[in-house]
Amino acid sequence: DMSIDHTWRGVPLSQIYGSDSPWGSPEFPLVQPTFNHAVLYHISHNRDMEKPPKPQIGTDKWDQDHVRMPCSRHSLYPVSDSAGRKQLKERWHIIEEVLSKPIKNSKQLAEAIITYNSKFKDIWTFSSLHYLFDEYLEEEETQYFFDVTLPQIANLALMLPKLVQTSIPLLKQGKIQSVSLSQQQISSLLANAFFCTYPRRNSRKTTAEYGNYPFINFSNLFNLLPKEHVLEKLKSICHYFRRVCSKVPTGVVTFSRRSVPFHQCPDWDKSTVSLATLPVHVDSEMIIEDLPGLIQVDFANKFLGGGVLRGGCVQEEIRFVICPELMLSMLFTEALDPTETVIIIGSERYSDYTGYGSTFHWAADHIDQTPLDSSCRRRCAVLAMDAVPFRNGSLQWKKQAILRDLNKAWVGFSSYTVPEPHLQYPGVATGNWGCGAFGGTATLKSLVQLMSCAQARRPMAYCTFHDTELRDYIERVWTIFTKHNVTVGQLFKMLVKYCDTCNIKEVSLQSFLEDELGEEPVTKNNTSVQESSQD
Ligand code: AR6
Repeated sequence: DMSIDHTWRGVPLSQIYGSDSPWGSPEFPLVQPTFNHAVLYHISHNRDMEKPPKPQIGTDKWDQDHVRMPCSRHSLYPVSDSAGRKQLKERWHIIEEVLSKPIKNSKQLAEAIITYNSKFKDIWTFSSLHYLFDEYLEEEETQYFFDVTLPQIANLALMLPKLVQTSIPLLKQGKIQSVSLSQQQISSLLANAFFCTYPRRNSRKTTAEYGNYPFINFSNLFNLLPKEHVLEKLKSICHYFRRVCSKVPTGVVTFSRRSVPFHQCPDWDKSTVSLATLPVHVDSEMIIEDLPGLIQVDFANKFLGGGVLRGGCVQEEIRFVICPELMLSMLFTEALDPTETVIIIGSERYSDYTGYGSTFHWAADHIDQTPLDSSCRRRCAVLAMDAVPFRNGSLQWKKQAILRDLNKAWVGFSSYTVPEPHLQYPGVATGNWGCGAFGGTATLKSLVQLMSCAQARRPMAYCTFHDTELRDYIERVWTIFTKHNVTVGQLFKMLVKYCDTCNIKEVSLQSFLEDELGEEPVTKNNTSVQESSQD
């Protein structure tokens, strides 16, 4: 194996794609309004692709099943008149008034936002916002932002009542529900998040109306201490607004929640699906967002976006700030239950970055070359699924924990599968899901995803994030599973047996599996450290 000069193992990517091109696989179903798919723009079959689609006309619904819109006439706000009497005013009128006036610096921006969020006058510090514009950026950059970009973001925010004319359903727990919007509508909704206009979204109480939803108002980010990666996330978001304000994007995006009742999930120990039928590609250098055409996994939090509006800066947060349209999911997606996932089709990437975590830096503008599908969505699918978080890693070696993640990944990977033909392209691009911030172990979680992929009949590309030992481990176990024609059910039972009978500190999963299948342990230099030390 010393002669292998590429960073991947398993089958070549073309076998994951099913063709030489990443775009050979069938498209996802067309955008079509149905009882559980709200389409917020007008679908026209021969529209001018230079222009964004027109908004769909409908009614504003101010209730518990729809996003409470900042521009709803039901959104009222108490203001004191000259005699000191409190009066209720339409909050949108206040927002319009404040955002139509010139805003020349971050202090005025903070004051503007506080005008219609006066409860937070002494609570919101805007520390990172002030630091970004007063200290961090070059003077010319700040000047340009307040002269050119900010008035455009304000304008975009104020266009909301024109751009979104029908109500947005909440993607609630237990529901199978989709929402499609134009990129232009998304930009206006996100501009409102920037100006913190969403009502009832600032309470931190879990019992509040939106206590089970992610935060959406950007005040959360503005108020953080000005750490470098926080400032870089802000830069990336501001870059997005600069881009969409200078040229209106004309595509559309679909957000779909999938929810499968637990009893409809596979009977894992009885599954006869053979792992030998599963094409697997393992790469130590490629990263998920660089694998076009595949269903790209977002290592999510059950509150989508995780820490994107707070201090977080790992896989999900980075993906959300380079593709900010993904952040719109935070407006309407209730926290995910164990057998629920969200898939987002059509988002565009606007930025390149370097680093990871505290070393994250916005690097450059990114021109997304992804082609469009027949519904004018970019052929980019991001699958948000949350692994089990472990504070104590030893808890993952339990049947219940394995089952939870098998089901979660299967619910996600089987999004948009149809019974025939058997192998459903596109495949999945994933990696060390749940193995960073969430404390899981990749030797286990990679096998869990292998089983869920096989069960959902989708090929798998696995990125080990520079870990060559893990890459070789996955190749090795996949090879012996194939050789012995191991089924998903058999592997599940072996994993449970390993958890029940082995001291995981003494017997590695690889040597246990080799032993179970009657394989000689490999003693080549691609064996894991743990294993070689046992020989
Ligand atoms: N491509 C491939 N692999 C990657 C990439 C990438 N772009 N980025 C990171 N990895 P983590 P989790 C690898 O910690 O453990 C967020 O706050 C790398 O090995 O993001 O599921 C969410 O909102 C990394 O250690 O995912 C959740 O709250 C590993 O993937 C929480 O983190 C795991 O990345 C989820 O934590």
